[in-house]
Amino acid sequence: MKRFFCVMISCVLLFSLTACGNDGTERGTESEAVNEAAAGQQAEEGEGPDMEKQPEAEPETDTAGQPATEPEADSAGQAGADMAAAKGEENRALVVYFSWSGNTESIANAIVEQTGADVFEIVPEEAYIDDYNALLDIAAQEKEKGVRPAIAGSIEDIAQYDIIYVGFPNWWSDMPMILYTFFDSYDLSGITIAPFCTSGGSGLSGTVDSIRELEPDAEVLDGLHIGSSSAAEPDSAVTDWLGSLGLAE
Ligand SMILES: Cc1cc2nc3c(=O)[nH]c(=O)nc-3n(C[C@H](O)[C@H](O)[C@H](O)COP(=O)(O)O)c2cc1C
Repeated sequence: MKRFFCVMISCVLLFSLTACGNDGTERGTESEAVNEAAAGQQAEEGEGPDMEKQPEAEPETDTAGQPATEPEADSAGQAGADMAAAKGEENRALVVYFSWSGNTESIANAIVEQTGADVFEIVPEEAYIDDYNALLDIAAQEKEKGVRPAIAGSIEDIAQYDIIYVGFPNWWSDMPMILYTFFDSYDLSGITIAPFCTSGGSGLSGTVDSIRELEPDAEVLDGLHIGSSSAAEPDSAVTDWLGSLGLAE
């Protein structure tokens, strides 16, 4: 009988211990479930540290991947390249001019404005005198003697230009001798030359033919003449001339 009670008590104790062990395991499982739910909640609300970083990263990715931005940049770059090709490679232009009292310079500026050409001013190494009457004599002597006054500076790589606008005042029904220095200094073979001139009334005289003789392998176009009294407002005359030559922008 004693042995029976011992066996019974052992069974009851064993059952109780087993029941306690199951409770512990279930509470552990519930805790994990709560933790996972909380984590899920945080994930949805973006409260966790990882989620705080995520929104910062995403816009960067979106911005970089936005197609609207890249084509804009591409088309701007392409337009620039097209313009460079049009101006820089297909029709590079240079305006070369000499001007003693500013009339020819006014025409040169108008051509530069309307064509976007580069510009080189022919400046004598030794400046001409300021006195008009004295200059008349000096210029007459230079022409008589065939003088070639030196030019200050030089044009780098003149062969890069397709067209050169060459401007000068009419001096004694001719170009100033320093223009002869210019044509002697550069080989303009294959380049188109567009002469322009200002004068008191003589017009271009024989200057266009002279340039054709000096640069036989250049194409010398019809020249533009503007009277000195009209030189201050040359825009429309320049526009018409460029249009007649097919050189308007
Ligand atoms: C030395 C000299 C000679 C000139 N010879 C002539 C000429 O033969 N025929 C003419 O119409 N004008 C003549 N002129 C006037 C200039 O051609 C005219 O004033 C021109 O517009 C000046 O241009 P610039 O201001 O660019 O120097 C002469 C002027 C100078 C200074």
